Amino acid sequence: MKKLVLSALFFLPLLTGCRNNMEKETTGAAVPPGYSLEPHRPQFHFTPEKMWMNDPNGMVYYDGEYHLFYQYYPDSTVWGPMHWGHAVSRDLVNWEHLPIALYPDSLGYIFSGSAVVDRNNTSGLGENGKPPLIAIFTHHSEEKAKAGRQDFQYQSIAYSNDRGRTWTKYAGNPVVPNTEKIRDFRDPKVIWDEASQQWIMVFAAQDHVKFWGSPDLINWTHLSDFGREWGSHGGVWECPDLFPIQEENSGETKWVMLLSINPGGPNGGSATQYFVGHFDGKKFTLDPSFAPQVSGEKAVWLDYGPDDYAGVTWSDIPKADGRRIFLGWMSNWDYATVVPTETWRSAMTLPRKLTLKQTAAGLRLLSQPVKELESLRGEVFSLEGQTVERELDMGGQSGVSPSQMEVILEAELPEGPETDFGIALSNSKGEKYRIGYNAAKNEFYSDRTKAGVTGFSEKFAAKIHTAPRISTERALRLHLFFDVASCEMFADGGEVVMTEAFFPSEDFSEVKLYSSGGDVKVIEARVYPLNKAVFR
Ligand code: FRU
Repeated sequence: MKKLVLSALFFLPLLTGCRNNMEKETTGAAVPPGYSLEPHRPQFHFTPEKMWMNDPNGMVYYDGEYHLFYQYYPDSTVWGPMHWGHAVSRDLVNWEHLPIALYPDSLGYIFSGSAVVDRNNTSGLGENGKPPLIAIFTHHSEEKAKAGRQDFQYQSIAYSNDRGRTWTKYAGNPVVPNTEKIRDFRDPKVIWDEASQQWIMVFAAQDHVKFWGSPDLINWTHLSDFGREWGSHGGVWECPDLFPIQEENSGETKWVMLLSINPGGPNGGSATQYFVGHFDGKKFTLDPSFAPQVSGEKAVWLDYGPDDYAGVTWSDIPKADGRRIFLGWMSNWDYATVVPTETWRSAMTLPRKLTLKQTAAGLRLLSQPVKELESLRGEVFSLEGQTVERELDMGGQSGVSPSQMEVILEAELPEGPETDFGIALSNSKGEKYRIGYNAAKNEFYSDRTKAGVTGFSEKFAAKIHTAPRISTERALRLHLFFDVASCEMFADGGEVVMTEAFFPSEDFSEVKLYSSGGDVKVIEARVYPLNKAVFR
């Protein structure tokens, strides 16, 4: 192995399984002792303090705070009668846990949904001249479902006049009844449509989405349906999102619809597809240059990894910021209820900025970690101009604990189709996680089959996961985040994303670049230890 060029080298005590939790400690009485250092507990991804969590809900920015509500069952670590848990952040990195926002009631459990700032008090539910926050969610009646009825899901609202601290359910719920008697009739996302000057609700109805419109968030009319004939239909449709976004190259405004489906994901189980098109205040139509129209591709996936589901974007991000910020649930219904964590279940993905760009495969949504995450970085360790001839050790040299780090890497592959290149994390138990690129297949892959505990589900580690590469550049750009029990890879500037959870029985302590079938030149590699975020 050649000598490393170190532009900044520092030595932390390299302890097996040491976590980068030096200065920032959790505070606040509600946090159970040991919360932050339990086995498999992420250090900078959002997790509930305890018990079961699934989808992110009601993500809205208001008065300097990013609100994150989430599907929550406070009585068990498996799914049950759903509540909306609640947390807020001022920077998308550090979070404050707040009391449960919405409890089940006589109309049912509180399923997924969204929240908006009703700026002009169109609902009349505001007080003292301040805009209220309105949450729009699905009521799911388990009683009606058990009684064999089909109309057990319907859309309801709740409002808050104290910055989301307390919520009152609207007395006239539901606001969208299920007159069509469709069993899966849920997950409303509401946006204000500037052009048609109305609120638009999009929600999932089994194999399609429905659009409804309203002047006041209370009185709704059906506008149109979309999707029976488009996209992937390997499972039921859930958790849509709809937003306008400017295409980076032309500045033209397009509309994007995110649509989660379970099962039927590209690597099994749950996943999120999307559509690019146009919304005219009534109907959604696909853009003529979007893949399903052009190449007949069935679905385009936001994230090829198995652990990014039910994600949607924040509402009411200030215009001056202008970002479209996404967050998903970092799990998969194939095994979510049996993953080996003891006091809680599931984490959210990192928040990501979405952009729309023309790529070699046509219009695509690109994902990138939000820049606020840079605040977690410790001192950088850099490599330049090295060649990976089989293996290049990164960990021992840098002192960075691979179980909590960010890697930004640009590498040039040799000519020829044989190269296999990637990054591998391992521990003293011989457990190993690999993520990389295979030139012969022109695909990225993630291999968690030997990355630790896998026996809890047959589906969890049944195969290596893959994602087709889009870019035709020789140089590969990888941006990776590792957080104890997960890896998020943003490849080629965010064109291809893979999110993977894994459960090593001891924290990963070694990290290596590897190559076969040709030497790979590292143009640049930066490795940052990441501090833990504050959860209080
Ligand atoms: C998606 C989902 C939603 C539903 C919620 C129930 O993961 O199935 O469709 O509202 O979870 O917890």
